[in-house]
Amino acid sequence: MSAGKPFSPANPPASVVAAEALGAATPAAAVDPHRLRQALGRFATGVAIVTTLDARGQALGLTINSFASLSLDPPLVLWSLRRASGCFDAFCAAPHFAINVLAESQVDQSQLFASRCEHRFGASWQRGAHGLPLLEGAAATFVCATDAHQEAGDHELFIGRVLAMRESHVPPLLFYGGRYRRLGALV
Ligand SMILES: Cc1cc2nc3c(=O)[nH]c(=O)nc-3n(C[C@H](O)[C@H](O)[C@H](O)COP(=O)(O)O)c2cc1C
Repeated sequence: MSAGKPFSPANPPASVVAAEALGAATPAAAVDPHRLRQALGRFATGVAIVTTLDARGQALGLTINSFASLSLDPPLVLWSLRRASGCFDAFCAAPHFAINVLAESQVDQSQLFASRCEHRFGASWQRGAHGLPLLEGAAATFVCATDAHQEAGDHELFIGRVLAMRESHVPPLLFYGGRYRRLGALV
């Protein structure tokens, strides 16, 4: 234990107080959405833009931070989409999607693809495999076949099988506590 106040039941460190609070079972309905969002914000993530084509072949996409690796063999990734999203029908119908992991320099792209703006695709993208929109300057790109999707609360969970990928050694964009961040020093 680090120097400072000695631990005793009379003056438990804050982390122990919090852990004790967790001991009392909380009914799901009692989980306050604001506090949940705040607590989830303690989980630092990268930022990605997921893109696909709609039934007319139009490019569409949105900013996400729910992207995660799922399996190496077979190579699977996952992400989730708000079911109320304007992109919902297109992603559910799309056989393929692309994950563009954003670089530190792409905050403006992240903001654009998280906005209400309908015209999100500017100059800095090109079509890749299956016609998918791929953003230039991304830290990594994964071209995926939609393996499965299923309802999960107010979101839809998508699982993709990675068909191709490329990476670029640029610093990634991070998201923590509701703010964009840079990668820090090694610990
Ligand atoms: C950093 C960040 C991460 C986000 N992650 C997600 C996500 O994982 N899933 C999601 O559905 N929306 C996510 N959003 C919100 C969407 O980007 C936003 O709601 C969407 O672009 C709104 O447009 P739409 O109605 O066309 O979906 C995120 C936004 C930001 C800024």
